[in-house]
Amino acid sequence: MDYLRIQGPTKLSGTVTISGAKNAALPLITLTLLAHNKVTLTNTPEVADIKTLLKLLENLGATSTLNNHVLELDTSTVNHTMANYDIVKTMRASILVLGPLLARFGHCEVSLPGGCAIGQRPIDLHLKALEQMGAEITIHAGYVNAVAPKGLQGAHIIFDKITVTGTANIVMAAALAHGKTVLVNCAKEPEVVQLCEILRDSGVDITGIGSSELTIIGTGGKTLEMVDFEIIPDRIEAGTYLCAGAITNSTITLEKVRPDHLDAVTAKLEQMGCTIDIDGTNMTIHPAAELKHVELITQEYPAFPTDMQAQFLALATLAKGTSIIEERLFENRFMHVSELQRLGADIRLNGHTATVIGESPLFGADVMATDLRASSALVLAAMAAEGTTNVHRIYHLDRGYENLEQKLRALGAKIERLSE
Ligand code: UD1
Repeated sequence: MDYLRIQGPTKLSGTVTISGAKNAALPLITLTLLAHNKVTLTNTPEVADIKTLLKLLENLGATSTLNNHVLELDTSTVNHTMANYDIVKTMRASILVLGPLLARFGHCEVSLPGGCAIGQRPIDLHLKALEQMGAEITIHAGYVNAVAPKGLQGAHIIFDKITVTGTANIVMAAALAHGKTVLVNCAKEPEVVQLCEILRDSGVDITGIGSSELTIIGTGGKTLEMVDFEIIPDRIEAGTYLCAGAITNSTITLEKVRPDHLDAVTAKLEQMGCTIDIDGTNMTIHPAAELKHVELITQEYPAFPTDMQAQFLALATLAKGTSIIEERLFENRFMHVSELQRLGADIRLNGHTATVIGESPLFGADVMATDLRASSALVLAAMAAEGTTNVHRIYHLDRGYENLEQKLRALGAKIERLSE
């Protein structure tokens, strides 16, 4: 198993190129299950989660090549409808095949994803919506068995909670359904918006894109002639590098970003005293003269993203004053707190709220990554800490950050990948 050894404190400088968004690429890859043609996706991030999903699609009968961020996918040959446990258990987002497979084939069998480190993460809202569209769903031996012998039917669906992959799954199902589907209380994340835009550009009648209410007129089972497209930049990777600049007191520039996708993150960094210059798709962060404490609440887009909570928690340990960070989306997303404490952070947890007493001197230690974004928070803290930190279990990082250590090393970080 690999781990990262980081020598701190470190100063960064220079420019880093942001990769395509993993969370956009995942639903967009499963979207190609609705197509009858070969589709080319550019700016595809070459991270473990994408490779896992491609393997799942290959098991279903698809063919794909991924070279230099160009992904060519042909799902016209898909002849299986079972997503088995071995793959789904390693990546919850595999559930994104459920809507497209059911819509295209009228039946599918997808392993239940189960819990994960950051909480229960049920899929009840995905299933309830599909049932409203006429699917008969049974759970047997750990699998969701879904059938829609007459095809899925348009429906009026109100999501009880805003769900990102839930919205994506049902949008894809509705695209091939019979008649009109209205989805209320949808996720508005840029990744969902891009999914809807590609569907629209591929001929599906879909309105309300970017709002919380989407209306989709299904093709009645007809597969799509899908357009080629470029995946949007990863706003969470970008936010993580902005935090890297802030935590190491450095000026760095990010290239190939969508600054408008980062408004909530930028606003918090500015409140903490950092300055951010935007020039087209470039963003430059200048560190704060004195890092100020912050109050933030994670919520659905366009509010502050839960996927940036851990990184800001790391940053808050160095700020002047007491920061309050409230996690509203996932019940168990503070696993990084005890690891940050090992580095010397003074953080008190009370339910969904972390109180961070700032200006803690951080010292290198052995720490364990617990989930994807928690891992990046540990890397950030390690770059600010005095001495050597070893971050173990970095397979979490490899799931979603492309070439993290190469990118940080190019910015001047002392970071190396070693084997246990
Ligand atoms: C996606 C992102 C993840 C991000 C999260 C929230 C992908 C691949 N992953 O995850 O990085 O942290 O959005 O922005 O895009 N819920 C239910 N029932 C459901 C579905 C969700 O109760 O059927 C709850 C979840 O437990 C959670 C909340 O709704 O509390 C939001 O979850 P959701 O938006 O679905 O997260 P994901 O799509 O899994």
